[in-house]
Amino acid sequence: MFDPKARYVRSLFSKVPLEYDILLSLLSFAQDRRWRAYVVDHTRQKLNERILDVATGTGLLAAEFARIVSRDGFVVGVDLTLSMLKTARWRLQARNVGERVDWVLARAENLPFRDDCFGSASISLALRNVSSAQMTFREMSRATVPGGVVISLDFARPHSRLFQIFYYDYLLGLFPFFGRMVSEAWGRTLSYLGRSILRARTGEQIANLLREEGLVDAVSVPLTAGIVCAVYGKKP
Ligand SMILES: C[S@@+](CC[C@H](N)C(=O)[O-])C[C@H]1O[C@@H](n2cnc3c(N)ncnc32)[C@H](O)[C@@H]1O
Repeated sequence: MFDPKARYVRSLFSKVPLEYDILLSLLSFAQDRRWRAYVVDHTRQKLNERILDVATGTGLLAAEFARIVSRDGFVVGVDLTLSMLKTARWRLQARNVGERVDWVLARAENLPFRDDCFGSASISLALRNVSSAQMTFREMSRATVPGGVVISLDFARPHSRLFQIFYYDYLLGLFPFFGRMVSEAWGRTLSYLGRSILRARTGEQIANLLREEGLVDAVSVPLTAGIVCAVYGKKP
């Protein structure tokens, strides 16, 4: 893999899969469950017998999808970090939903699927991490059937200036501090995540990317005081 950002991101995430779920829950004050429930609600429809979750990490969202697909349905989780996928596989097996999910080691920008084969495609808390958001949406849209939904959930910057003061202190100060208490690898990962959140696109910018890739009815919905934003559009 010659892409320097992809190499860097993979090196960060390859050392943190075991603690990822618990730390995400602690650092988001357990809001991450609500965010995932929102994504599942907004992609729940008949077309969703086959669901693609890009940059699936430890499979938290894939597990939620696996619970709602019909007996004939299935979920595919894609990630570029093998240790994240391995953790996802055994966690979902332990939760008895593993049989409905296939795991694929691949890059979001170059998905190894034919056109029009998934009812919906999601990417959660990872758009900041991919090397090309545009190529990622292009690929997600290509692999989704007409009428299907492409959805991104990602960290954003809150609207309130007052809240921003506390939140940015939290991201740049406490976030990496907690990380270092767990391990050096987590210190590095959370310091990167905090900085990447400050550079995150706005919901409207993400909606525009979806529109550029030909998706229609794109909307962005801020959640939890705007610290995350769900953005989705439909393939015509
Ligand atoms: C913060 S985790 C998010 C995991 C999960 N989606 C969630 O909501 O908890 C980011 C994940 O994106 C993956 N990732 C980053 N860039 C990627 C790319 N270009 N292609 C595929 N996966 C990527 C990383 O390996 C990591 O597992």
